[in-house]
Amino acid sequence: MNLPFCAKEKLIVGIDIGSHSVKICQLQRSNDEYEVLSLGSNLLPEGAVDDGTLHDPEQVGNIIKNLLKHLKIKNRKVGFAMSGFSVVVKKIALPHMDEELIKDHILSEAEQYIPFDINEVYLDFQDLKTNREGSERTDVLLAAAKKDVVDAYLEMFKSINLFPTVVDVDGFALGNAYKYNHPESSNVALVDIGASKINMNVMLDEAATMARDIVVGSRELTDQIQYELDIDFEEAEALKLGIQPAGDKQAAIEEIFNSRCNQWIEEIKTAIDLYHANNRREPLSKLIICGGGSNITGFAELLEQSIDLPVEQFNPFSNMITNPRKIDPEYLAQVGPEMAIAAGLAIRTSEI
Ligand SMILES: Nc1ncnc2c1ncn2[C@@H]1O[C@H](COP(=O)(O)OP(=O)(O)OP(=O)(O)O)[C@@H](O)[C@H]1O
Ligand SMILES: [Mg+2]
Repeated sequence: MNLPFCAKEKLIVGIDIGSHSVKICQLQRSNDEYEVLSLGSNLLPEGAVDDGTLHDPEQVGNIIKNLLKHLKIKNRKVGFAMSGFSVVVKKIALPHMDEELIKDHILSEAEQYIPFDINEVYLDFQDLKTNREGSERTDVLLAAAKKDVVDAYLEMFKSINLFPTVVDVDGFALGNAYKYNHPESSNVALVDIGASKINMNVMLDEAATMARDIVVGSRELTDQIQYELDIDFEEAEALKLGIQPAGDKQAAIEEIFNSRCNQWIEEIKTAIDLYHANNRREPLSKLIICGGGSNITGFAELLEQSIDLPVEQFNPFSNMITNPRKIDPEYLAQVGPEMAIAAGLAIRTSEI
């Protein structure tokens, strides 16, 4: 029997399915604290997942099933997050009204807000309750995801006997992970640098806003190294990660890193400028980077010099309990930045 004061809430298993790898995280909550129970990742075959769309459900399903088995995770309730072209997030200002009326309004005016046929999307919204005295309007956060793309994930999970009870959006999951670790922080831009995209979200007091996808990522470095040096993908990836010594290729690789990273930084700067132009009273305080690409040697420093804001790498486990006998602290610190979305999913309780 669980006594109430040490009751453990049933959380879901966070599964972040990226284009490069799948990442799984399981946490346990007791009272106000989270403990990291297990985490791991596995590479996905090229093209199995692309732009947030699941192209090879069978292979991805098998990889997830094996990873869960390897991690000895028994909990079947899982959560995943949508990203890419098939999901749209918008903040809209509406007259203050009841939830039911908000829903009716969104359904009848959907074409105004989302670029898809209303019958082809799952819609969700949250009243941010920003209306203050003297103002009739409130901000509502609207999320729409294409049914066929979501359904492909749901089917895949079903086929491996998992129950997806939470479908989230990348940026929200990331925001949740950040808010848990830094509850006081506001006006922070979260920048997830993955293999195939850079996703930016700004955390204001109430929620994440300004989601922006830049369709480049660390994979581009591998492609360029492969192309310029005329070598295969695996060797290019090993050179990029520094697993294989660069030798006489060092200068060419550095040149690729420099030119690509500077291009990304230009894109990030454009997004920051756009944000500042639209939110003059809420200037950014810092940039938090995560995702595998945030590990690129020298990138954080280069970014910091270019944007004139502090840049920090995010470790979602910094405020959680960890057991060094179960999970190697060095591994935990190393994979933290790319586990941010999985961790943000794993702090959610099962909604059914
Ligand atoms: N030290 C490093 N230097 C350069 N790149 C790195 C390093 N560590 C990891 N990466 C790159 O980060 C990418 C993987 O990051 P991540 O796991 O965040 O991507 P993903 O979530 O699978 O992709 P996406 O979100 O773009 O679909 C790979 O391209 C990998 O080569
Ligand atoms: Mg990712």
